[in-house]
Amino acid sequence: MWKLTIIKSCLIINRVKLTIRFNLLENLLVNNGGNMRFFLAKDTKEVNTIAYNLIRAEILRNPKIVLGLATGSTPLGLYKLMIEDCKRGNVSYKDVKTINLDEYIGLPDNHPQSYHTFMYENLFKDIDIDLKNTKIPNGNAKDLAKECADYTAYIDKYTPDIQLLGIGSNGHIAFNEPGTSFDATTHVVDLKESTIKDNSRFFDSIDDVPKQAITMGIADIMKAKMIILLATGTSKTDAVYNAVLGPISEDCPASALQLHNNVVVVADPNASFMVRTKGVNPQ
Ligand code: F6R
Repeated sequence: MWKLTIIKSCLIINRVKLTIRFNLLENLLVNNGGNMRFFLAKDTKEVNTIAYNLIRAEILRNPKIVLGLATGSTPLGLYKLMIEDCKRGNVSYKDVKTINLDEYIGLPDNHPQSYHTFMYENLFKDIDIDLKNTKIPNGNAKDLAKECADYTAYIDKYTPDIQLLGIGSNGHIAFNEPGTSFDATTHVVDLKESTIKDNSRFFDSIDDVPKQAITMGIADIMKAKMIILLATGTSKTDAVYNAVLGPISEDCPASALQLHNNVVVVADPNASFMVRTKGVNPQ
């Protein structure tokens, strides 16, 4: 695919040299100083296929891969592709380990909206993974501080080869809300009103949304060897712009990703709107 790529233009934004390339599939690739690749998918379906092709290639290369996983609506299509391909016998998860970003505090594991239930229902039950190899924070631990410290220790031992991320409309990654220190490891967070509102669509009422969660901190997320951030929908367009082209600031937790050396952002036309119209004006 790289061979099909021709360089169209270069520009300097915020001290970062961006090389914009258009390939024959009409995906735009923003190469942020060599660290961040930005795929403009033509639709949500292509977001999923681009992400899946990256993940599939890594699993085939290393069947004992550690995969960092996310919940939420964004990765659902990707998880469907993982299931379909596994059912066809093309990819096996029997030696794969997974580690999730976060979990609500106070919901029983079997609650319909717990992230334990989400992962089981939307992925684990339909692939050949050993559930013992899956790890999700325990939001009901008696000693939450110990749970957080143990989770960070687990990440240090089984560091994700790939960490999958969604992004909140306020720029959060996992449950690291604006203002969170980039140095934070796994910790307990009070969820912001905007996040409670975003997530209330999954609950009967906004009052049922838990107010706290355990989340991998940004320092833990940044340990992953490769990070794939998926973004779809208009509500994400400002957050994607700030993450990719905004200042590196705790005001936008996802902007920390500009400091990582191997990030792939895959966005649909709605989520990439600001990047395309405001950020990327070939000079
Ligand atoms: C989920 C997570 C969150 C979501 C984000 C986007 O594990 O960590 O950061 O990725 O809130 O959620 P959706 O995909 O539902 O828009």
